[in-house]
Amino acid sequence: MKLYFAPMEGVTDSVYRRAHASCFGVPDQYFTPFLSPARRKGLAAREMREILPEENAGLPVVPQLLTNHAENFLWAAGILDGMGYREVNLNLGCPSGTVTAKKKGAGQLADVAALDRFLDTVFKASPLAVSIKTRIGVADPAEFPAILAVFCKYPLAELIIHARLRNDFYQGTPRLDAFQAALAQCPFPVCYNGDLLTPGDVQRVSAQFPGVPALMLGRGAAVNPGLFRELRGQARVSKDEIQAFHALLYQGYRSRFSGERAVLCRMKEHWSYLIQIFADHARLAKALRKAGSLQEYEAAVAAVFQTLSICQGDDYRVAFKT
Ligand SMILES: Cc1cc2nc3c(=O)[nH]c(=O)nc-3n(C[C@H](O)[C@H](O)[C@H](O)COP(=O)(O)O)c2cc1C
Repeated sequence: MKLYFAPMEGVTDSVYRRAHASCFGVPDQYFTPFLSPARRKGLAAREMREILPEENAGLPVVPQLLTNHAENFLWAAGILDGMGYREVNLNLGCPSGTVTAKKKGAGQLADVAALDRFLDTVFKASPLAVSIKTRIGVADPAEFPAILAVFCKYPLAELIIHARLRNDFYQGTPRLDAFQAALAQCPFPVCYNGDLLTPGDVQRVSAQFPGVPALMLGRGAAVNPGLFRELRGQARVSKDEIQAFHALLYQGYRSRFSGERAVLCRMKEHWSYLIQIFADHARLAKALRKAGSLQEYEAAVAAVFQTLSICQGDDYRVAFKT
């Protein structure tokens, strides 16, 4: 069973991927958070940095694109091909209102005829293998068979299914029935995604779908960055390892961003996940959230490492901000 680290905007950037790989070993695949290619404007410097080979040296990375313009997709795929990538991933899952209002991300699932035309152009000309990360529809699971019928017309490298509707956002339980029904029809490899937060979740879902060749983990791996190796039978992450991981992240963002605010903001985002692997973390989670300077931030981090201990078993399942 292959295990992928899900793309997470604001979390799994190249600084994070390098630090993660060096502390915990590489999962079978990382996916970049989405890039929004526009040929007219070119890629933003921030987006270019995500895909530069030197930023991803030695890591198995699949870049992800969010666009409903086949021309923009193919233009970006050409750049990625020149950089040596083998596969590009299309984002048909982003539920954000600003994205779906433009008929991108999960918004692209609303019009299957337009989706079909888009994929037809893309698959005729893409220099790279194309995989898709999708939700199961916009408002009703009954939409999925028609969406799937379109996917099945094309030689997808892989279909990653986040078993939720766009309108579910990240709420409610993933719709495993819809996933199960889709599995039987797909002529390409399928990957399951959605709420695999702890080792127990992964065991349950892989027992339910023993034929599924790959699982994608997002928030659970952001909380427990050692989850991939734990699923391979190795030890729960230790506090020293989280400390070493944190040092690499902190150092990485301090050299990447010029202002203190940007560093603080990114580190707080990481801690909104990481803190949850620590038992009894409520007071220090608040101190981290409230830190107004790097000095206050460092004091809160020191207190985490001095006073808290890592949860064992599946005890760290808690609420996520989404
Ligand atoms: C903060 C955040 C950022 C995300 N960014 C992306 C993204 O850039 N591209 C994408 O396809 N999915 C994105 N997702 C969705 C995740 O990849 C994943 O599908 C979702 O979190 C469900 O998996 P999980 O329950 O294992 O977290 C994001 C999710 C979160 C919480």
